[in-house]
Amino acid sequence: MKITVIGTGYVGLTAAVCLAELGHRVVGVDVDQDKVAAIQNGKLPIHEPGLLDIFKRYAGTRLTFTTVLEGAVAMAEIVIIAVGTPQGKDGDADLTALKEVAAQLGRVINNYKIVIIKSTVPVGTGEQVAEIIRKYQPSPIPFDMASNPEFLRQGSAVNDFLYPDRIVVGFEKPAVGMVLRSMYLNISAPIVETDIRTAELIKYASNGFLATKISFINELARFSEKIDVDINKVAEGMGLDSRIGQKFLHAGVGFGGSCFPKDVAALTSLGKKSGLELSLLQTVLEINRTQKKWFFDKIKHSIGTLKGKKVGILGLSFKPDTDDMREAPSRDIITWLEKEGAIVKAYDPVAMKNAKNIFPKVQYMDNPYQVAQSSSAVIILTEWPEFKKLNWQKVKDSMAGNLIFDGRNFLSPSKITGFGLRYHGIGGKRI
Ligand code: UDX
Repeated sequence: MKITVIGTGYVGLTAAVCLAELGHRVVGVDVDQDKVAAIQNGKLPIHEPGLLDIFKRYAGTRLTFTTVLEGAVAMAEIVIIAVGTPQGKDGDADLTALKEVAAQLGRVINNYKIVIIKSTVPVGTGEQVAEIIRKYQPSPIPFDMASNPEFLRQGSAVNDFLYPDRIVVGFEKPAVGMVLRSMYLNISAPIVETDIRTAELIKYASNGFLATKISFINELARFSEKIDVDINKVAEGMGLDSRIGQKFLHAGVGFGGSCFPKDVAALTSLGKKSGLELSLLQTVLEINRTQKKWFFDKIKHSIGTLKGKKVGILGLSFKPDTDDMREAPSRDIITWLEKEGAIVKAYDPVAMKNAKNIFPKVQYMDNPYQVAQSSSAVIILTEWPEFKKLNWQKVKDSMAGNLIFDGRNFLSPSKITGFGLRYHGIGGKRI
């Protein structure tokens, strides 16, 4: 099939590369000339395991990139819109880029197309986009809309695309459904077929539920810590019930990233607009906000005054295997540490370049040991596997203090305390 993907962000670029892997002829389009030039030169703008290998296999043959929408659309049977829908005013999804693409599509569509929205969008956006396309068409050319939300996670985007739990497709005409099914012919996964509005809600509902699981366990972690119960064991005991499941029950310093915070806010805003308070989801966001403060207060309480103290941060990105700093808990924690006068040192395997633009005053180090050097405390905010393998004796020997704060509950408390360090996790038993 001939497919054009508009937008080369996380979703768009992954979709373009993986659709080529599925055997399609794909053109990726972006308005950002520098980005497209970089991609054409083999430099992908995102750090995503496996993406570059597949990209290299097809680049220049059945996978190309351009800034010229008209040519890219002319060749395509299917046009996938995957532009960003960032958080706008009042938590709403900002549809500016999407609407601009719709207007341009109206101007350039030359023959029948299926236009699929892959961006995460409020319910009813498919209809709005169709209206805009029609409005900008010089003369009516038929097209059909479809929704095909993406559930990929950063850090495992390629795997999530090629081996998904399910594929959700929303469409109105059966013939469109057939085309969507054949687009994914080489993927073995259940396909949920529905109308466009339902598909749009499935995406928000999925992210809302996963965020709810995390805030549930995080709030319970605060309680379990008060009553001296280990939240990790609680989660294990709960999660083995197949109705509950173990995933997304990992207590930590809070969820971040480009999706959960934004999508839950958008869903609550949609609720408000329809006259309904989605109070559970509002609380999910509130728990996530206060979780970071709760963790920071623990740090502050243990260290005492932070003024002039060196504090080391290990991990800056919102999760491992990405350099993405959007809504990363490190942003709040560093802001508060700096406000209290602490000298912040930090290390992250890939996110330091992005972090430097946000926190120019932080001292960025070449490795975790330099972070530990003379620090009163070391705080882990991202569970990069390499932190597990640290020589903790070396860490301990070079620190000024002996406090380890594990914001991801991924170190072994008994191992850490065995080195004479004091371990503070999230919702752990007193040790
Ligand atoms: C998420 C959804 O998983 C994905 O389906 C959707 O398309 C986009 O949003 P992503 O933001 O890449 O993906 O990351 P994810 O792995 O889901 O983690 C999100 C955040 O939740 C991270 O900050 C992570 O650390 C946190 N998290 C996750 C927890 O705190 N505990 C958990 O148990 C799981």
